[in-house]
Amino acid sequence: MAALKILVIPGSLRTGSFNARLAAAAVKELALLDVEVTLISLADYPLPIYDGDLEAKSGVPANAVNLKRMIGAHHGVLIVSPEYNSSVPPLLKNAIDWVTRVRDRDESFGQVFRERAFALAAASDGKFGGLRLLMALRQILALGCGATVIPKQVALSFADQAFDEMDRLRHPADASLLKATLRQLIATAQQTMI
Ligand SMILES: Cc1cc2nc3c(=O)[nH]c(=O)nc-3n(C[C@H](O)[C@H](O)[C@H](O)COP(=O)(O)O)c2cc1C
Repeated sequence: MAALKILVIPGSLRTGSFNARLAAAAVKELALLDVEVTLISLADYPLPIYDGDLEAKSGVPANAVNLKRMIGAHHGVLIVSPEYNSSVPPLLKNAIDWVTRVRDRDESFGQVFRERAFALAAASDGKFGGLRLLMALRQILALGCGATVIPKQVALSFADQAFDEMDRLRHPADASLLKATLRQLIATAQQTMI
């Protein structure tokens, strides 16, 4: 059987981003779990702020199509995002909005979300670890896009102290929650494999 493919998308472009570091820790863990893993940066998919007039005039930008196809080439997706003002950063929300506007041949809008499993993680230097972002993002993906979002999730609080000098998660409870979340993502994504 072909290998299960998991895509990891950090929701921050910031140098030294805690979420990018958590995403990198997840990539290492996924490699140990015998899946094919791809880590991307949304910096490689720059998109204008969604505007219906722009879409009507110029169509969906090539980067939205590319991002949609990148998602479509995987069985499961892990999004690791910061929380901004208790919600989803515009970088990530805008990317999701554009991807829902992509319709490849014989597909309906947003089909790429409905056909695969998503897992969510967040890191914040605050005490809630991005918990409200996780709720908001779950609503967007599950209710808005019809995605299967697995129940397990990671909210990494006090992220400024959560990593050791090798960028591994310092606390065993954090490492084991990440592992359990990834295992559940893999198990759920396997059900979408043909
Ligand atoms: C505009 C803005 C709003 C923020 N709002 C929140 C928030 O609501 N909750 C929170 O825990 N952290 C909040 N933060 C702090 C971020 O969690 C922190 O900057 C974090 O390091 C960003 O993630 P990154 O390290 O992956 O870039 C906010 C930061 C910014 C820039």
